[in-house]
Amino acid sequence: MLRYWDAPPWSERVRSEQFITACRQMAEGGTGARLAVDRVSGGAFIGWCGLNRWNPDYRSASLGYCFNDAAWGHGYATEAARALPRWAFDTLDLNRVQAETDTRNVASASVLEKLGFVREGTLREDCVVNGEVSDSWVYGLIRREWRPSSEPVPAR
Ligand SMILES: CC(C)(COP(=O)(O)OP(=O)(O)OC[C@H]1O[C@@H](n2cnc3c(N)ncnc32)[C@H](O)[C@@H]1OP(=O)(O)O)[C@@H](O)C(=O)NCCC(=O)NCCS
Repeated sequence: MLRYWDAPPWSERVRSEQFITACRQMAEGGTGARLAVDRVSGGAFIGWCGLNRWNPDYRSASLGYCFNDAAWGHGYATEAARALPRWAFDTLDLNRVQAETDTRNVASASVLEKLGFVREGTLREDCVVNGEVSDSWVYGLIRREWRPSSEPVPAR
């Protein structure tokens, strides 16, 4: 799961508690929201997606997601993340949603492109992942270019 993540795995339980606290603070402070994703059948928690770095002056925010590797390849990330641009543009009145992904993370790039994000450029040597300097692609979705699908595309 963390092969292309910009931070190493956590070994201490306290680190996850800090993460949950930060999620709550983000929601309460109005700077973003991280949403738990449960599978409809059985209700298992399979991952999260969310908007953060919300900037009301620029009317922009960043999209992110992370799913349990056992749940990959069924369209879950695409189905869940598809709800966020709709929320950002229709409810929060944002103009731009941005996302960055390691250039080797083909699955993540595929999710963004299925949602209509445009690859805008490369952030060279943007991260160090597992000790390796890596490039990131920056993707953007602009409200006037957004084409919401009339039907939600369900996971398979
Ligand atoms: C990126 C991630 C969220 C995708 O989750 P997912 O539920 O498998 O995504 P989906 O099934 O909706 O779509 C994945 C797409 O990538 C494709 N894909 C998956 N692995 C791939 C690979 N190694 N090479 C090429 N394509 C790949 C799938 O075929 C699918 O495309 P399709 O619908 O056209 O067939 C998941 O891999 C993940 O959580 N990774 C770890 C965390 C992470 O990297 N988050 C993003 C940080 S920017």
